[in-house]
Amino acid sequence: MGSETGVRRLDQISEHPEERTQIGLSELDRVLGGGLVPGSVTLIGGDPGIGKSTLLMQAASRLSEDVRVLYVTGEESLRQLSLRARRLQLRDTGVQVLAETQVEQVVATAAKLRPGLLVIDSIQTMVSDGLTSAAGTVSQVRESAAQLVRLAKEQGIAVILVGHVTKEGSIAGPRVLEHMVDTVLYFESDAGSRLRLIRAVKNRFGAANEIGVFAMTGEGLREVPNPSAIFISRHDLAVPGSVVMVAREGTRPLLVEVQALVDDGQSGHVRRLSVGLEQNRLALLLAVAHRHGGVSVAGQDVFVNVVGGVRIGETAADLPALLAAVSSLRDQPIARELVCFGEVGLAGEIRPVPFGEERLREAAKHGFTKAVVPVANKPRNGVPGLEILGVQRVAEALHAIS
Ligand code: TYD
Ligand code: MG
Repeated sequence: MGSETGVRRLDQISEHPEERTQIGLSELDRVLGGGLVPGSVTLIGGDPGIGKSTLLMQAASRLSEDVRVLYVTGEESLRQLSLRARRLQLRDTGVQVLAETQVEQVVATAAKLRPGLLVIDSIQTMVSDGLTSAAGTVSQVRESAAQLVRLAKEQGIAVILVGHVTKEGSIAGPRVLEHMVDTVLYFESDAGSRLRLIRAVKNRFGAANEIGVFAMTGEGLREVPNPSAIFISRHDLAVPGSVVMVAREGTRPLLVEVQALVDDGQSGHVRRLSVGLEQNRLALLLAVAHRHGGVSVAGQDVFVNVVGGVRIGETAADLPALLAAVSSLRDQPIARELVCFGEVGLAGEIRPVPFGEERLREAAKHGFTKAVVPVANKPRNGVPGLEILGVQRVAEALHAIS
């Protein structure tokens, strides 16, 4: 009876653990949750020129040693692809390439070739027969993606879609596709920096918020497998307004420098600006500092920035942001060998964050000797090499840095 209706008993479905194909670029495999899942659809978004095609050509080439890979380009000519491959020194690669923008053609070709991986570069160049609107419009992007998702699920082909992030409203950016795909990765970088962060913002097959780190070189993207301390700018002397925190992005700790600048407001309207941290959180922290720490920034502009273009979504950044702001306001540097983290509550309490001990161990590994953390995050047996001050209230934390 079940076979007629397609209905099955849940407990009779065999649960093979997801087989995954390792791409062999460990930082990319990591953000995917351990490799590519057959039949999955992954969207990689990012600004034009950030390195999406470069990364995917490198990935395609690695993977082509094990499975068939079809790379469809709607952006560049095959000659351009070949030039890039040469620059990347991917000479003897088995990647099959196709210059095509008609999505029905792409689907038909892929259904015939049955590749293990199909790359679409980019989804904004794909057009469907059935629609008259221009390439890149929301309807074209959605329809093309829908056809490719169907192909992936029916044939078990892993599909990677490239999507340009665009600011113009008329052009459909990756956002309109996020709900249709299994995994959404964003490629980010700081202006002028060679570092490239790839971040999972959604992943049906792994941890969201996982980040992978690459550096752009003359021969393509190079993995940065131990990035935990690269987001700290090394000042020779301690400077006011800077403190190092231990963040935890995805499954690993990351040392990042949080900077603040508090300055007399030049206009009638004071500014509160944060880059890399949630904007609303900053206003909240400044109010808590005033009410529970006796520190006022009235009439002052406050800017907070996370070094290296990292975005920290977790509340563990509260205490670092607050301490950096107060350090700048007082023009008193915080000791260079100090790290901190912790959530700040509206009542002025410092709340614990997950993985306290792991964060502290990472800090000790990188030579930090002092830590100001929520009291509940202080490990009972301590951490070798680290003097840990557990704080309960904002006022105590402010006292610790003065
Ligand atoms: P690209 O992958 O074409 O970006 P996207 O597909 O996201 O638009 O990368 C473009 C930039 O990367 C371009 O400015 C040149 C630079 N680049 C390198 O620095 N090294 C390299 O090996 C390659 C292939 C590109
Ligand atoms: Mg490209």
